Amino acid sequence: MTPPRSWPLAPVLAHRCGGLLAPENTLAGLAAAAEAGCGGVEFDVMLSGSGSPVLIHDETLGRTTDGHGRVALTRDENLRALDAGRWFDARFAGERVPTLDEAAARCISLGLSVNLEIKPATGQDDETARVVARRAGELWAGVALPPLLSSFSELALEVAAQLAAHLPRGLLVERAPPDWLQRCRRVGAAALHADARYLDRSTIIEARKAGLWVATYTVNDPGRAQTLFDWGVDCIITDRPDVVRASVTRHRSSTGYPAGFGVQSC
Ligand code: G3P
Ligand code: MG
Repeated sequence: MTPPRSWPLAPVLAHRCGGLLAPENTLAGLAAAAEAGCGGVEFDVMLSGSGSPVLIHDETLGRTTDGHGRVALTRDENLRALDAGRWFDARFAGERVPTLDEAAARCISLGLSVNLEIKPATGQDDETARVVARRAGELWAGVALPPLLSSFSELALEVAAQLAAHLPRGLLVERAPPDWLQRCRRVGAAALHADARYLDRSTIIEARKAGLWVATYTVNDPGRAQTLFDWGVDCIITDRPDVVRASVTRHRSSTGYPAGFGVQSC
C-alpha cells in the first residue's frame, strides 16, 4: 500500500483554540496558541439560534459563558452580549463567543492551520454541516492551507463532502469501532481522529497503510505525545501546546494538501 502523504497542518494543534492557556473556543485562545509557537489549532463550530456558525463546544451556554439555555435557541444578538472569558479567569473578561468569520480571519492573519470540528447540536447534523462547510470554503478561499473538517457525525462529513469537496475530512471517534476503516471510506475521510486513551499502535499502522492521516486527542503529556509520534501519528491535539510543542522532536509535516488526498469513497 502507498504510505500516507505528509500531514499538512501543524503537527501539534491547540485544542479548542488555545487549550488551557485561555478560555476555550475564543479569539484569545487563538492568540495564546500563536504566542506559544503553536502553528495550528482545533476548534468546535455549532449553529446559533439565528443559524450562524459560532465557536462553542457545549450545546448549552452555562459552562463557558455567563448565559444559560441552548446555543441552538439563542439568537446572535443575545449570544454577542455574553461573556465567554470571565468563567476561566478575570483577565479574560469581555471575550465573546466568536463567529466562524471572526475566527477564520484571526487564524489567517496569525498563520494558524485549522482543524475545524463540525459540532452539530442534536438533530442538526445536516444543517450545521451545510452552513459550516460552505462558509469555511468561502472564508479560506485563496488561502494556501484551508481547514481540515472533522466531526463525530458521519452524516455531517457526508454533507461536507458534497458542499466543500476540496476541504479534507477527518472522522472523529473515541474508541475506534471495528469497522473504522469502512466508515472512513464511506465518508471519504482523509484522516482518522481518535481519542488517545484508546488508540493503539496497530490501528495507527493500519490507518497509515490505508493512506489515512492519524490525529489524536487530547494529549497533554509530552512523553506520551512523543510515543504517539514514534508510533506514527501525524498530529497531536493538546490542551498544553506550550509544553507539548516544545518537547516533541519527531514529526512529519508538509506545506499543502496533495491532489487527490484521502481514501476513495465506496
Ligand atoms: O477534535 C478533537 C476533540 O476536540 C474532540 O473532542 O469534545 O473536545 O470536541 P471535543
Ligand atoms: Mg473539538
